[in-house]
Amino acid sequence: MIIILDFGSQYSELIARRIREAQVYSEILSYRTTAEQIRQLNPNGIILSGGPSSVYDNGAPRCNPELWDIGIPILGVCYGMQLMVDELGGHVTRSEHGEYGKAALFIDNPTDLLANIDSGSIMWMSHSDSVQQMPKGFELIAHTDNTSCAVIADHDRKLYGVQFHPEVVNSIGGPPLIRNFVYHICNCKPTWTTATFVEESIQEIRVKVAKKRVLLALSGGVDSSTLAFLLHKAIGDQLTCVFIDQGFMRKYEPERLVKLFQEQFHIPVEHVSVRDRFLRALTGITDPEEKRRIIGHEFIHAFEEASKEFGPFDYLAQGTLYPDVIESANTSIDPQTGERVAVKIKSHHNVGGLPRDLIFKLVEPLQKLFKDEVRQVGRSVGLPEEIVNRHPFPGPGLAIRIIGEVTAERLNILRDADLIVRQEIKHHGLYHDYWQAFAVLLPIRSVGVMGDQRTYAYPIVLRVVTSEDGMTADWARVPHHVLEVMSNRIVNEVKGVNRVLLDITSKPPGTIEWE
Ligand code: XMP
Repeated sequence: MIIILDFGSQYSELIARRIREAQVYSEILSYRTTAEQIRQLNPNGIILSGGPSSVYDNGAPRCNPELWDIGIPILGVCYGMQLMVDELGGHVTRSEHGEYGKAALFIDNPTDLLANIDSGSIMWMSHSDSVQQMPKGFELIAHTDNTSCAVIADHDRKLYGVQFHPEVVNSIGGPPLIRNFVYHICNCKPTWTTATFVEESIQEIRVKVAKKRVLLALSGGVDSSTLAFLLHKAIGDQLTCVFIDQGFMRKYEPERLVKLFQEQFHIPVEHVSVRDRFLRALTGITDPEEKRRIIGHEFIHAFEEASKEFGPFDYLAQGTLYPDVIESANTSIDPQTGERVAVKIKSHHNVGGLPRDLIFKLVEPLQKLFKDEVRQVGRSVGLPEEIVNRHPFPGPGLAIRIIGEVTAERLNILRDADLIVRQEIKHHGLYHDYWQAFAVLLPIRSVGVMGDQRTYAYPIVLRVVTSEDGMTADWARVPHHVLEVMSNRIVNEVKGVNRVLLDITSKPPGTIEWE
């Protein structure tokens, strides 16, 4: 295992992922982690991340000084390297002109860390401070035109520093450098694979849960589906999967999900249909936040009832992922000590928090995984691509894509229009090009003409976006001939729609969803 000590870098997660791509397990911990805590985890190596600070800043984050003598190989990246140099008696200078962007790395000593990397390889720089004088015992092993100390090494103590960011995509020589560090310097073996993860987590679930019963709310997404599969393999019928069907899923999805689990995976699913109740609760409600609140409330209620009906349960299975763990660790600061506190319970995006009397112990087998790793696991256990690569779909579902009041009629219209959007995007081979592609129904009517008849019907808005993470997004330049087919099909096939509009707003200022 490799530990990444995070000094506030936006790239720490990327470092963790690059190491895992080399099939070595990695974890991100706070820079405050003590040498003793690190020893207990018994890592093969440590990476000090970059960070926004300068070693000269007041209150700049510093690691525990015992770290240097712990006897485990350490690689400092950017700020991590400067900190290493400053702490070990070298000298870092503040420079007026930073160095940002691509730089060719010229190798002076092609040993261990730089083995098999071509001199002249492009690396990505982003720094203003630089190492001017190396600490005793260090050797310069590579430079760039602007940075004399681009890579330094103390081979005896196995301490290394790189001024650039080997983890970012633009660093062409980054992946081999990371592989050299983890394989040759830290002696890690490439054993972090999907198969070993599945095997190990099944063992861990068995030990943790023993003979107790576990409840899982299945949503149809890749996380809860993968979770169901792992748990079922581990504990069989001690697992109860409940699918709460609030009536806001897409066309055919509830039936497909239940069928897939029961018939293909032989995992029983309790299909709790509460469609009427949700619709009733939303009667007359037009405010988006109020809608979300009511849906969250009804979901908890339905979930509570299901847990009583099928329970009692000792454990609740949650699809918490590694970024949720890091994020909650990053954002929760103990006001007394200023320490980051890792809060493990995911604030459920869709549920708005479970009530206190519905507290279970948690089993969260995916909490070590990044999303793409969950997909790999899902794929390896046989989940079909339509689940593994499904576009994100919000918990409140189609209800927040009907502007204004949600009615049964509007739901049916939107469901049919949404199906056409997805069919055409897939048919034209564009599904994987977009983050999301869906339809929104507006609660107004406009005049149209079909045949010789005047129509007065709803407009449908097409919302198709590209995005990396959903935090920002751009409207997708969907080819005109695809838009044309979608528009024609929607107005011709979906009764109640006579106009199709295209949303060309990026996020910000728009959001991806309309409510
Ligand atoms: P917005 O609309 O905020 O959406 O730009 C960003 C991403 O989050 C998804 N989203 C949700 N996902 N429950 C979810 O699980 C929700 O309540 C929810 N609201 C928005 C949205 O689809 C997009 O991918």
